[in-house]
Amino acid sequence: AVVEHTFNVGNFSISQLCQPPLIITAVNGQLPGPTIYAREGDTVVVHLVNTSPYSMTLHWHGVLQRGTPWADGPAMVTQCPVQPGGNYTYRFNVDGQEGTLWWHAHVSFHRATVYGALVIRPRGGAKAYPFPKPDKEHVVILGEWWNATVYDMERMAFLTGIPAPHADAYTINGKPGDLYNCSAPNQTAKFEVRQNGTYLLRIINAGMNTPLFFKVAKHRLTVVGADACYTKPYKTDVVVVSPGQTVDALMVASAGQRHGHRAPVLLRHDRAAAPRQAVGGAARRGHPHPEQLLCNRSAPPVFSSSMNNASFVVPKNTSLLEAHFRREPAGVYTRDFPDTPPVVFDYTGDESDNATMQFTTKSTKVKTLRYNETVEMVLQNTRLIAKESHPMHIHGFNFFILAQGFGNYDKRRAERRFNLVDPQERNTIAVPTGGWAVIRFVADNPGMWYMHCHFDAHISLGLAMVLEVLDGPTPETSVPPPPADLPRCS
Ligand code: C2O
Repeated sequence: AVVEHTFNVGNFSISQLCQPPLIITAVNGQLPGPTIYAREGDTVVVHLVNTSPYSMTLHWHGVLQRGTPWADGPAMVTQCPVQPGGNYTYRFNVDGQEGTLWWHAHVSFHRATVYGALVIRPRGGAKAYPFPKPDKEHVVILGEWWNATVYDMERMAFLTGIPAPHADAYTINGKPGDLYNCSAPNQTAKFEVRQNGTYLLRIINAGMNTPLFFKVAKHRLTVVGADACYTKPYKTDVVVVSPGQTVDALMVASAGQRHGHRAPVLLRHDRAAAPRQAVGGAARRGHPHPEQLLCNRSAPPVFSSSMNNASFVVPKNTSLLEAHFRREPAGVYTRDFPDTPPVVFDYTGDESDNATMQFTTKSTKVKTLRYNETVEMVLQNTRLIAKESHPMHIHGFNFFILAQGFGNYDKRRAERRFNLVDPQERNTIAVPTGGWAVIRFVADNPGMWYMHCHFDAHISLGLAMVLEVLDGPTPETSVPPPPADLPRCS
């Protein structure tokens, strides 16, 4: 079937936390924006109509976009943004994916208010879930709220060099709840449950800069999915969700009075804690090539972040995918070719990072991958300033997490711990604080795929890179021509 929506991105005024009304940019005047419900195999068509004063793009976080790289959405990576007054139609399939994903703006900081859920049910509907059919489902979007416009935030970032002041509130479905001094009763998200009913909670962290812990008082959760991949069910009191990630969990409403209403409580947030993660998926075999060691850190006097010693900057006049499609990278990006030996850095998560690593170069360098090769990447978390668990997200792929740990990556010790049986499959991994993770995926999706930290502030600091996957042997395994309405750069 075809699931079709028109998303009018425009400004509207909202007042939260007893503050004077604030003009924010959102889809169809809603915060969060509309939930898209689809079934596996459906075609999703979204007409973006931009009535806001900003240039805009939409990204379908976690959708693999096989054969539809022009619909992925990150500004200047796969498209130039839609100018005020402009339109663009995103058209893609949700094949081979079931569970909870989401969508958000992918230009400047606009995803703070331009976001919503994307729910993909099995072809057979809710009765085809690989777990007991819930009585009801609830979308639970965790977010961050600032008493400031995106424009003010950007200006603040520009002036101070510190891009992410703490949120003024943490929200559930756009609402701050009653944890703050001044919240009206209608500013608390409420989910109706019945005694002994089973509920599927589709939990999304749409926050900008904070991993969040989610818990329902007096209840346990059974995690059944993450990032639209089913997991082996496991029970837990609390789930940790980093920005970009989703967790599907079943909850049996066992406590409280009959027909009671209760709202989940957002307990606390803590960047330093290690994520407890779900296990699932099937291991994919193959000989990994190439190996890459990616690092990130920040350095004075200007804060910046980098991967493999480069702070990524997007091009200004044309998108990377257009340059790739025209086979004209010159002047737009440079390549790190497939035959380049693996990059191995010997600096680590230690405090003793030496001074030579303090200055990054700004560049638009892509890692070029041959079609269908198995890629193994080691993500090593390093830092000079701040120690954090960076949620690294890759567009266009799910990857398997073979191993992760604290401290410095050690190839021999890590390989002994590889889970090749039932590793978890995700699109966003919270790399342990001061630690490492090894991921694998098959580069079977030609195009230009953004890979970045899902703390939004870190994207602007350069904690990003792009994977260029070359065409396969047939037209079906090659990047198709761009759609006629692809926005032009002004
Ligand atoms: Cu959810 Cu590149 O983003």
